[in-house]
Amino acid sequence: MSIPEPTSPAQTAAVECRGVTKTYGTGDAQVKALRGVDLDVRFGEVLMLVGPSGCGKTTLLSVISSILDQDEGSCKVLGSDLKAMPQEERLEFRKNSIGFVFQLFNLFPTITAAENVAIPLLLKNMAPKNAESRAKEALDGVGLGGKTESFPAQLSGGQQQRVAIARALAHGPKLILCDEPTSSLDHQTGHQVMETLKRAANSPDRAVVVVTHDARIFEFADRIAYMDDGRITEVVEARQARNAP
Ligand SMILES: Nc1ncnc2c1ncn2[C@@H]1O[C@H](COP(=O)(O)OP(=O)(O)O)[C@@H](O)[C@H]1O
Ligand SMILES: [Mg+2]
Repeated sequence: MSIPEPTSPAQTAAVECRGVTKTYGTGDAQVKALRGVDLDVRFGEVLMLVGPSGCGKTTLLSVISSILDQDEGSCKVLGSDLKAMPQEERLEFRKNSIGFVFQLFNLFPTITAAENVAIPLLLKNMAPKNAESRAKEALDGVGLGGKTESFPAQLSGGQQQRVAIARALAHGPKLILCDEPTSSLDHQTGHQVMETLKRAANSPDRAVVVVTHDARIFEFADRIAYMDDGRITEVVEARQARNAP
């Protein structure tokens, strides 16, 4: 794969959450979305976060990416406490170190695949020529080298999601956060998308977190963290989960 690898070897966990709580709203409208989450994500792994709708998975991803501040507890991401960072530094950190993949791909419809992938690079002030060639390399890395000039509507769902993955990977982030990345894809396409993410995680200083309901992709997990009602209830090595009755 031609996507550049991050250079500094990391010693700590990619993500360390301890006692993380988050409540939305007040009074009668109060929702305790996170009730004390402890979770480590290791470098080199695909960690799947699995649980029923409404149990707090997206909220936890938002805290990990510092889009949302937790109320209590701590969350260290790639060794940094993002809550303690000024907004502008957080933004920089997110731009440089985190890649996002969403259920509905979130591609811009009026620009090409390569232009979509180039956006985070241009946001990092990369020269347009370099961004373009890096974007093409990233698309090549997800098996879409022949589709660089296609518009999203000319691509299948799985191809669009792989463009989104190329976009998430192009700037060499160490942490990739995916929210239900295969939920709108058929079985085979979901597998292709997970194979791409699995390859991305196969690096000693990168980690991939995948929020999912989709039992068809559990086989791609290194570990599965089960979540219910705002807490992590169990974390299992995926081999154990696969052998479970
Ligand atoms: N912005 C918000 N304001 C109020 N309640 C919210 C908000 N976002 C999520 N919630 C509530 O918090 C709980 C957890 O939501 P979420 O993290 O989206 O769960 P999941 O991703 O597991 O489906 C749910 O009860 C949801 O309705
Ligand atoms: Mg969600």
